[in-house]
Amino acid sequence: MDRAAVARVGAVASASVCALVAGVVLAQYIFTLKRKTGRKTKIIEMMPEFQKSSVRMKNPTRVEEIICGLIKGGAAKLQIITDFDMTLSRFSYNGNRCPTCHNVIDNCRLISDECRQKLLQLKEKYYAIEIDPNLTVEEKYPYMVEWYSKSHSLLVEQAIPKARLREIVAESDIMLKEGYENFFDKLHKYNIPMFIFSAGIGDVLEEVIRQAGVYHPNVKVVSNFMDFDDSGVLKGFKGELIHVFNKHDGALKNTDYFNQLKDNSNIILLGDSQGDLRMADGVTNVEHILKIGYLNDRVDELLDKYLDSYDVVLVKEDSLEVANSVLQKIL
Ligand code: TMP
Ligand code: MG
Repeated sequence: MDRAAVARVGAVASASVCALVAGVVLAQYIFTLKRKTGRKTKIIEMMPEFQKSSVRMKNPTRVEEIICGLIKGGAAKLQIITDFDMTLSRFSYNGNRCPTCHNVIDNCRLISDECRQKLLQLKEKYYAIEIDPNLTVEEKYPYMVEWYSKSHSLLVEQAIPKARLREIVAESDIMLKEGYENFFDKLHKYNIPMFIFSAGIGDVLEEVIRQAGVYHPNVKVVSNFMDFDDSGVLKGFKGELIHVFNKHDGALKNTDYFNQLKDNSNIILLGDSQGDLRMADGVTNVEHILKIGYLNDRVDELLDKYLDSYDVVLVKEDSLEVANSVLQKIL
């Protein structure tokens, strides 16, 4: 080999070594980058409750950041704001639909068959509107007012006695979600304020949590409460109506409650409707808020909307284990 050929072989060899080294460096860089990116969600990656296929997140990194904020704030800064029907209560059990607070009354034996039929027709018409993916909240709003006023008038006609509510609830199929004992008891143990904000019926809701043994002093219920006459018979509903899409108004009316909780600037919000996203509107000092949304119905059409608005979306999920796992990290 002449000198020029030796030089050429040398050049090729050193170029190959350079390429190899560059390749190794690049591979190392990608590996480190991947590890770094992975580390951005290292808390939720370690939580088995977040690995289920029912758990969906548009932005896991953001969820991780919020959870870190909640952990840092601890019990002292935490408060819970939650919906009731289909959020704390089950949507289904063994393949059968579970009742809402209203349905507990609709289905009870004190209601005439004719009235039950009318209530069922109302539910078919208006529930379809409530969850219609093609209508805006503004378009749905007047229909909800219509539903509530018609349904409440029918209930009043049935002259329901207050004294029978305990038995009506006990005989109903309403159920709290799996893991409710852990959820309520832990929040009680650490004295975390829990605001249950429901467009259901307050008297039924309270009876459900009382009978489940979890109506602890840290729980405040804001809902539609029945009004009874002197003989204890239903004559109407107290105060301003809370329906599915005016929760922001109700939230602002409860500023006294939220003002007492000035230091509780970290929130876990639980809901199942787009209207529930406004339940924390009365809180002025939000530092970190984790919004967990149950998506129960018309999943394919609504999933994107829910992923855009809730941090964590739980698809057809009837347990509180994700919320419990977050509490476990904080408390
Ligand atoms: P929530 O705010 O606790 O979820 O309660 C509101 C639910 O109650 C909402 O999904 C609509 C439902 N509802 C009935 O099931 N029957 C009725 O008659 C009415 C007016 C509402
Ligand atoms: Mg609900």
